[in-house]
Amino acid sequence: MKVIKCKDYYNVSRQAANIISAQIIMKPNAVLGLATGSTPVGTYDQLVRWYDKGDLDFSEVTTVNLDEYRGLSGTHEQSYRYFMNKHLFDRVNVRKDHTFVPDGLGEPKAACAEYDRLIERLGGIDLQLLGIGNNGHIGFNEPDTAFETMVHIVDLKQSTVEANARFFRSIDEVPTQAITMGLKSIMQAKKILLVAAGKKKMDILQKSLYGPVTPDVPASILQLHPDLTVIYTESEE
Ligand code: PGA
Repeated sequence: MKVIKCKDYYNVSRQAANIISAQIIMKPNAVLGLATGSTPVGTYDQLVRWYDKGDLDFSEVTTVNLDEYRGLSGTHEQSYRYFMNKHLFDRVNVRKDHTFVPDGLGEPKAACAEYDRLIERLGGIDLQLLGIGNNGHIGFNEPDTAFETMVHIVDLKQSTVEANARFFRSIDEVPTQAITMGLKSIMQAKKILLVAAGKKKMDILQKSLYGPVTPDVPASILQLHPDLTVIYTESEE
C-alpha cells in the first residue's frame, strides 16, 4: 500500500488526477472505475483542466461507475449518471456509449448480473477510484457486507440516507436502495486509488488501513489489495 499525505484538497485532487492520467497515457483504452461523492469532484476538475490543455485524450477510455440509486433515472439530478455527466463525461471527449453506470431502474437481479458481465466483458477494471464513507463504506457496501459480494442491491443504512438527504428536497425522497459493485468486484480491479479529505474522515481512514480486516469496516478489505494507493489530507480546505 502506498499512502500519500497532502497539504490540502487541491493537492489530493492533483495527485489523484496524475495517477489517472498516467493510466490513460500508458493505456489509452483503459477501463476506469469511477466514483461519485464530493471528494472525487476535484479530481474530475483537474482531469478536465488537463484535457482542455490538450494533455489528455479520453476517446478510447471506457468507464464503469461503482453504484447508482435504485428508482432514479439517469436524468434525475441526484442520480449518479447525472453527476458523472455533469462533472466529467460532458466535459471531456469520452464516448458516452463507453460510459457505464449501473441501471437503477431495471429488474434488480438482471441489472446486477448484467453489470457483472459487462465488467468481465471489458476485461476488468484497470484503475478503480474510490471515496470512503464516514462508516467505512466503499461504493454502497455498508458495514457487514460480505467480502465476497459482486454487484448487488443494498438497503441503505439510515445514517447514509440521512447523509444524502441534503441533496434532496425532503428525506422522504431519498432512495433507500442502491445497486452497487460488491467488495469482490472492487477488489478485482487491477489498481485502486482511494481519496479522502477532511478531519472527519481521518478516524475511519486509520481504522480501514491499519485496523483489523473486518466486514464492520468494509474499506478494511483494501489492505489485502496488491496495488492500493491512498491519497488524503486532514485539511478542511
Ligand atoms: P464523500 O463521500 O466523498 O462525499 O465524502 C464518500 C462516500 O460516501 O463514498
